[in-house]
Amino acid sequence: MNFIGQHILSVDQFDRASIEEVFRVADNMIPYALRQRVTRVLEGAILGNMFFEPSTRTRVSFGCAWNLLGGEVRETTGIKASALAKGESFYDTARVLSGYSDLIVMRHEKMGSVAEFAAASRVPVINGGDGANEHPSQALLDLYTISRELTDQGKAIDGMRIALVGDLRFGRAVHSLCKLLGIYRNISFSLISPEALRLPSSYIESLRSAGHTVVESSDMASGLQQADIVYVTRTQEERFESADEAQRYKGLLRLNQAVYTQYCEPNTVIMHPLPRDTRAEANELDNDLNDNPNLAIFRQTDNGVLIRMALFALILNVADQIDATSRPVNWYTAKRF
Ligand code: NCD
Repeated sequence: MNFIGQHILSVDQFDRASIEEVFRVADNMIPYALRQRVTRVLEGAILGNMFFEPSTRTRVSFGCAWNLLGGEVRETTGIKASALAKGESFYDTARVLSGYSDLIVMRHEKMGSVAEFAAASRVPVINGGDGANEHPSQALLDLYTISRELTDQGKAIDGMRIALVGDLRFGRAVHSLCKLLGIYRNISFSLISPEALRLPSSYIESLRSAGHTVVESSDMASGLQQADIVYVTRTQEERFESADEAQRYKGLLRLNQAVYTQYCEPNTVIMHPLPRDTRAEANELDNDLNDNPNLAIFRQTDNGVLIRMALFALILNVADQIDATSRPVNWYTAKRF
């Protein structure tokens, strides 16, 4: 895949070689994310960070990733604060904003909205999440995390066992991750969800036809056994017809230390795209796992910066200029990792 000037709208654009290229550039970003070195390779460049749906880590980490490369960020948050609320089309918004930015990241609740926006944009656009459809940068950072965690245990993505838990119907992070994992070989998928929130059949069919094993269940007891990775998700309440309907599914599937001890392997890696819903009725990933060394959720969020820096560097064709323009930092830096 030639990244230069490209939109990143779906993980369908990636093959194994291009994933490895993103990961190689992401590895190279570690000294910058750790604040050991500074680079100004995007000095003068502007990111349009357009989030028309709630976001904390995706929006802020895209912004930080751009800043860490030396660029400036302009952002808008929420529909109400933008002219979309006055009836402006994606076409007009994209024409306008692409005149102000070198690259745009966009999130919107409508499936396909980011592709529609990108078609009218004069600069590259990255999909920061379009409704229940896709979330490519999240899937890349999840896969990067899986790869690093498994490598630490002497394992590989090919042949691994992953349990995906929760709202697999509306969870776009899961949708994109399943497509990316489908590129690898001989993975065993255990899909654990309430009956009504199963992974859409098109994803399951693609995985099976690529030679992977897929087993569906609605309880943790059988589904979690022997998993290398357990990936828990939140009930996507904003995608349901009503709050009452979403409420029915909250709290049905919960991972806590007791469940982990009973059904997981001693080193099963625990992941979640976050935010975890910590309200009592939901609590799908309990705080009592916070000191479990296999809890990788904050390694995921840290890795998100590396992956987003890598995407920017590849799209804007500066990946091989980073080190040449860098210097050590000159301020006190806390140890983060
Ligand atoms: C996810 C999303 O927005 O799809 N969050 C994120 O970007 N890390 C998952 C979620 O909201 O549950």
